[in-house]
Amino acid sequence: MIGREKEFADLKERVDDLLAGRGQIVSIIGEAGVGKSRLVSE
Ligand SMILES: Nc1ncnc2c1ncn2[C@@H]1O[C@H](COP(=O)(O)OP(=O)(O)OP(=O)(O)O)[C@@H](O)[C@H]1O
Ligand SMILES: [Mg+2]
Repeated sequence: MIGREKEFADLKERVDDLLAGRGQIVSIIGEAGVGKSRLVSE
């Protein structure tokens, strides 16, 4: 996966919060094909 270091790090922090008991809701918004599904699957 190329060029999503910031977004990936942000998502991992949200998962860490979730595991610590702080529920999270994340919206991933972008143009078609920009990599939303790929980011989530990674
Ligand atoms: N950061 C990335 N580095 C390399 N390849 C990527 C990256 N992001 C997406 N891709 C590739 O680009 C293609 C499109 O990505 P993806 O399906 O995640 O887009 P999407 O935003 O979910 O599209 P849609 O809006 O149609 O659902 C896929 O083959 C995916 O693996
Ligand atoms: Mg998608």
